[in-house]
Amino acid sequence: MQPFSQFDERGGLRHLITLEGLDADLLRELLDRAQHYAGRPGDLRLHGRELQGFTVANLFSEPSTRTRTSFELAALRLGADVVNLDMMLSSRVKGESMLDTIYTLQAMHVDTFVIRDSQPGVTQYVAEHVDPHVSVVSGGEANLTHPTQGLLDALTIHQFKGGFRDLVVAIVGDVVHSRVARSAWRALTTLGVGQLRLVGPEELMPPAEDFAGADRFETLEEGIDHADVVMMLRIQNERMEQARVPDADRYFDRYGLTAERLRRARPEAIVMHPGPMNRGVEIASDVADGPQSVIRRQVANGVATRMAVLSYLAEARRKRS
Ligand code: CP
Repeated sequence: MQPFSQFDERGGLRHLITLEGLDADLLRELLDRAQHYAGRPGDLRLHGRELQGFTVANLFSEPSTRTRTSFELAALRLGADVVNLDMMLSSRVKGESMLDTIYTLQAMHVDTFVIRDSQPGVTQYVAEHVDPHVSVVSGGEANLTHPTQGLLDALTIHQFKGGFRDLVVAIVGDVVHSRVARSAWRALTTLGVGQLRLVGPEELMPPAEDFAGADRFETLEEGIDHADVVMMLRIQNERMEQARVPDADRYFDRYGLTAERLRRARPEAIVMHPGPMNRGVEIASDVADGPQSVIRRQVANGVATRMAVLSYLAEARRKRS
């Protein structure tokens, strides 16, 4: 059996399961395409026919608001048919295997699967078994990857900062459980970010071998000092053993981003959060809703980024056939 590759034999992108292996040129191409779709509110360029004839299925086994909705909107705005299968209400619950679920939908001419799953490896496993014309895109896998989130975060930073090379980006909080942090690190490192910092308590820091090149800080004040971008992460209680779940008040006292603490960053720093937010735990409401927050722009960019990825995969497929 051939080793798995996200690329087809012509070098075109067929699946998007991880940002690992995507070089800076390809990332920039995807970001440029996403910027085209980002447009302005009310801009009719937000609609197209690039996916006419395609059927996209969203298969989410974990909760989602932003990712699932934005994949659905992205596909609809490009002319695709879309099905959203709630995996907890599907025949998976009756014991049907993941592959039988995929083959069933493939028989209905689904040709793009977007999968969110808590089990590492499921997305690649599906990609290894689908028909040659079919693409698989990760909508978030365990604590490992969330490639379209990494892209939309890079797009947002680029929109506000104009580049990556001279930036100090601080990723703060529950890094060890965060697929968002891993994909942001991968994207920003590939794009040549100036300095990437990880900030948080020892028990929420990833193993030393992960996040190569990142600098680590245990205090928020040091970690965001003169930062250009402060990316706050959600405390992921659902991925923690009980012993590791931090007390919310104590956590906020040490790591909650308040307006006062944000003054340690550069005056023009932007504040990001992938959502969903725990207000009063990792971020104060007046910061989340304040003038430096770009959190809602991240959400808007999520649709544009997913339009870019879906249309790019469709274009690569047309070149193959
Ligand atoms: N950022 C993100 O993945 O949000 P959802 O879990 O709501 O999709």
